Amino acid sequence: METTLPISATDQAMQLEWNYGAHNYHPVPVVLTRGEGVFVWDVEKKRYFDFLSAYSAVSQGHCHPRIINAMIQQAQQLTLTSRAFYNDKTGLCEKYLCDYFGYDKALLMNSGAEGGETALKLTRKWAYKVKGIPQNEAKTVYAAGNFWGRTLAAISSSTDPSSTNDFGPLLPGYIVIPYNDLTALEETFKSDPNIAGFMVEPIQGEAGVVVPDEGYLRGVRELCTAYNVLFIADEVQTGIGRTGTRVACDHEGVKPDLLILGKALSGGTMPVSAVLTSDEVMLTIKPGEHGSTYGGNPLACVVTMEALQVVEDEKLAENATAMGNIFRSRMTALTQKTDLVKSVRGRGLLNAIVIKERPDLGSETAWEICLKLKDNGLLTKPTHGDKIRFAPPLVINEDQMHEACDIIEKTILAF
Ligand SMILES: Cc1ncc(COP(=O)(O)O)c(C=O)c1O
Repeated sequence: METTLPISATDQAMQLEWNYGAHNYHPVPVVLTRGEGVFVWDVEKKRYFDFLSAYSAVSQGHCHPRIINAMIQQAQQLTLTSRAFYNDKTGLCEKYLCDYFGYDKALLMNSGAEGGETALKLTRKWAYKVKGIPQNEAKTVYAAGNFWGRTLAAISSSTDPSSTNDFGPLLPGYIVIPYNDLTALEETFKSDPNIAGFMVEPIQGEAGVVVPDEGYLRGVRELCTAYNVLFIADEVQTGIGRTGTRVACDHEGVKPDLLILGKALSGGTMPVSAVLTSDEVMLTIKPGEHGSTYGGNPLACVVTMEALQVVEDEKLAENATAMGNIFRSRMTALTQKTDLVKSVRGRGLLNAIVIKERPDLGSETAWEICLKLKDNGLLTKPTHGDKIRFAPPLVINEDQMHEACDIIEKTILAF
């Protein structure tokens, strides 16, 4: 007699996405339904450590009660007005952001990619209105390996073919140079008077947590000042305590001309991004020249202020430093026990291990490790083939960190 097994809740949810959603992602096969702090639960009630934090967006931990409360209260009062009218929260949030990060003005958008686009538009305006570059001649410089989203402006600087294949034509006016290379940056600045800005991640996240040499950001700051080029820091992934300081540029004591933030700005509750800059740059944009229906909405503003205050009150940047040190020392010890882990790198709680491909698994080695990590109760995903990123919520405590490191160690040694 033929029997048909009942389809599991996990398979059902994955099947629905496959049947009705675009196939633009390749998720780890787990279906999550609940989150709290550093943990998430799947539909079969299994608990996992979340060591990806939605690519560093859930830094304050899943469903942080203070952020959720602020959100509920504001949601019951006023959520969206568009910017056709004033509301009583947008200005408060803009002031909060300016005081917190030390800038004159803030422009609120939604996704990180929109934050990057906003920075690019501001840079071009400034190029024509202030620097005096001839119309339509402004150029912006990027570092190879950059990732700042999926819009056409963002992929136009990408050096990853899977981001750009069959999406051309790309935007003009872009120059891409190697990352962590001050000589190349200076040569580029010298060679072209129409360069308006250099957009760079202080640590490249999607490229596999690439940490530049000490002094790189200081050098970028000096060259940008010397050549009158705007230093645009993309801190969408590195910002807000993730690397152990408020923003990663603080490690070298440098202040970018434009600071792009996103992800953890709302503690993983809704898309919020912001660009912070000086009056000189921000006031080049006039009414009607840029915006977004949801950008700076009162719900996002209240959530953003609470999410940032949580980072301060709970000393999450300090915790990221302490827990990151434990993580890297445990992983460094692991490199002594297996040759599968080639190296460990990162800062604060933005870290990665580089995996040596096993002959029988080839380029799938890091992926197979992530599948086993999932089975053992810890979630993350490879980035760029052989790197596995580990970026838990910044609220993780010491016992949890050791438990998670035990899982990683056990999983990798079993290979
Ligand atoms: C450094 C950096 N900038 C920008 C973005 C784009 O953010 P979003 O996915 O919210 O558009 C990302 C996303 O991963 C990022 O890592």
